Amino acid sequence: MCVEMDQKSEKKDEFPPRTPWARLPTPLEKLERLSEDWGAEIWIKRDDQTGFEWSGNKVRKLEYLFHEAVAQGATCVATCGGIQSNHCRATAALAAKAGLRCILLLRGEEPKEWGSNYLLNQLFGAEIFYLTSEQYYEGMKDLRLLLEQQLKSQGGKLYFIPEGGSSATGVFGYAQAFRELEEQRAQLNLAPFDSHVVAHGSGGTLAGLVLGKLLSKKEGAPEIVGVNVCYEEAKSFQLVKDVLWAAIQKQNLGLSFFREDIRILNGYLGRGYALTTPSELKFYGTVAQREGVLLDPVYTGKAMLAIREELKKGGGILGKRILFWHTGGGFGLFKVPSADWQEGLRS
Ligand SMILES: Cc1ncc(COP(=O)(O)O)c(C=O)c1O
Repeated sequence: MCVEMDQKSEKKDEFPPRTPWARLPTPLEKLERLSEDWGAEIWIKRDDQTGFEWSGNKVRKLEYLFHEAVAQGATCVATCGGIQSNHCRATAALAAKAGLRCILLLRGEEPKEWGSNYLLNQLFGAEIFYLTSEQYYEGMKDLRLLLEQQLKSQGGKLYFIPEGGSSATGVFGYAQAFRELEEQRAQLNLAPFDSHVVAHGSGGTLAGLVLGKLLSKKEGAPEIVGVNVCYEEAKSFQLVKDVLWAAIQKQNLGLSFFREDIRILNGYLGRGYALTTPSELKFYGTVAQREGVLLDPVYTGKAMLAIREELKKGGGILGKRILFWHTGGGFGLFKVPSADWQEGLRS
């Protein structure tokens, strides 16, 4: 079934302009010991190394979003997320770099302890507002308008970035990342991977990889697979579909896509978003000890666990040559209570 068809005839550049802030290309490496342990070739794309302050996947989207903000004359960027959002931390860091004011609308109560991403937001000088879930999920549009008016009355201009930077503009970050990966693969003379696996939250990363594949005009491998770690399956699919379509329209790309182009690997949410279990924490210890690679407990850990579990089940849905996108989030390791780590790592 064809999901959408873009019939606009006027062609623009494939990609909108961006400000190149991420440390690119990120390394592409084979995980030798995990490959041996799990009986498949596991490769890793180190997008946890796109920088330090703005480490992780978000900077790839923010390169496009900040460029657009500055081009529109913005004096302030605002965005939203959870108290420990990686996206908000990366936005605060880049706003400081760009010399823009940064407003963060965080879901939850003001924390008593300053730690991890939340501490870094304070260091970067972001102005923080705390929202109830109702304000966050139902009142965001009104809040955005209010902020826009306030900024205007002060002689400034607001650029609003939606959750996770997953907008039509932000999606191009991972379309470009797919292209970068393909160039590295060609340089190393590697065959295509059977699948790419990535943690999926607000949807822009998965949508970007799918767009990158569509733009490469190659059919078949790799399957682009998102492991939903924030939202249930149907919402996760819808988020990707909507933002992918918006990106295609934004640049008049003339592309169509199919339902099967967006693959959600469901079942790895565990106890829920940002919650852990002792066996998950033990698994992150195993990966750290076998490869010297740190996974984060909210996103990448669950996505890597999905690979191991699917390989154990043996259904072959990820194939035998798997690329894991490490999308960062390492500061989140320091938010897991130490008693939980002790229970997990000693079990
Ligand atoms: C470390 C990390 N990985 C993956 C994701 C998921 O990316 P997306 O929101 O684009 O689906 C996020 C989003 O917050 C993240 O912080």
